[in-house]
Amino acid sequence: MTLQWNDLIVRDARALTASEIRDLLKVAERPEITSFAGGVPDPALFPLDDFNTVYQDLMADDAAGRRSLQYSISEGLPALRQWIADDLAASGAKRDIDNILITCGAQQGLDMLGRLLLESGREIVVEKPTYLGAMQAFSMRRPDYVGVDMDADGPVIEQLEAAFAKGTRVAYLAPDFQNPTGRSYSLERRLAVLEVARNYGAVILEDAAYCKLSYDGTQLPSLLALDETQGDPNAGCVIQLGTFSKTLAPALRIGWVTAPRPVIERLVLMKQAGDLHVSTVNQEAALRAARRLFPGHIEGLRDAYRHKRDTMLKALDDFMPEGVSYTRPEGGMFIWLTLPDHIDSRKLLEVALDDAKVAFVPGQAFFCDHSGSNTARLSFATEKPERIRSGIERLAALIKRVHNQY
Ligand SMILES: Cc1ncc(COP(=O)(O)O)c(C=O)c1O
Repeated sequence: MTLQWNDLIVRDARALTASEIRDLLKVAERPEITSFAGGVPDPALFPLDDFNTVYQDLMADDAAGRRSLQYSISEGLPALRQWIADDLAASGAKRDIDNILITCGAQQGLDMLGRLLLESGREIVVEKPTYLGAMQAFSMRRPDYVGVDMDADGPVIEQLEAAFAKGTRVAYLAPDFQNPTGRSYSLERRLAVLEVARNYGAVILEDAAYCKLSYDGTQLPSLLALDETQGDPNAGCVIQLGTFSKTLAPALRIGWVTAPRPVIERLVLMKQAGDLHVSTVNQEAALRAARRLFPGHIEGLRDAYRHKRDTMLKALDDFMPEGVSYTRPEGGMFIWLTLPDHIDSRKLLEVALDDAKVAFVPGQAFFCDHSGSNTARLSFATEKPERIRSGIERLAALIKRVHNQY
């Protein structure tokens, strides 16, 4: 008898669906394609020699090496959490190590927070557009999404307030160099977001994945840092997700959740039940690498990515036809393109791969309401500057042609 998998697999798991553009984007991996589609760091910037030293030193130390190959506590290594707490304190957010849980990347933090705070029938506010991976993580719980429009300063406060007033109690927000648009919130908007969240007793999940990749001047304080409630690290309404994926290497799979203690206590139980703990050896290596490399390595990343961002912006300025607009991000890895209304970026991608040999991610997937068919995400992170310029030139020529055709 053939098994009826659709009857066996529970509804929550059936809520996960594959992205329809995934197959198309497989083509983007071919060498002849200039790919602005990837959402990954530039591997040429990984500090290979330092990791070589870090892992060798660790294994050369009998006691530390053996400890690092052993099971460890679900919360994460205390020394690593202390490093993160010190780093948070330097950014203005004073938290104890008991407010920090090490996770398998920020992505696991999103999954766990979704399982902690969401269920079918509950709502969550997301930006329009938002990080697709967050919606994928949350969708397993089948929540209802409440999309909030963004202006140049951040989420439109009236819409956020309206959502809270109707009873939504969770918002997923990315104030710094957002994936996919590269946009950041102004200081005033950060404060306004916190004020409405506090007024309605709502919790904010702050995604800080890109916060250290700032290219123009000083970083604004995070929502976590601004959420100071009489010096009590357990009284705030912000839960922040951090990661070493963008500053050290994603393959370490080291992320963290910073939250009031009652939340961390629950998450620790979930972590224990789910996968016990994050790889001890990778936590130890990440700590040693961070101690050894920061802040110098981050300065190097900023210089390299700033150059790539500037190259892409200059090419967009030089080649894009009228009617196409784009963000000018102050950090992160992405530029967001808005095409004339009648151009569907998914159709454009098919021709772009074939014709212009350029890949990007059509923007619709990043909208909870499937709007944004005329938008696209461009990453400047992985291609070399020369290829960025010529790729944008070819894409612009294609858009000009398509624009005139319709
Ligand atoms: C905004 C955002 N949050 C979280 C993640 C997940 O990162 P990690 O590698 O730490 O799981 C990513 C990865 O691209 C991201 O872009």
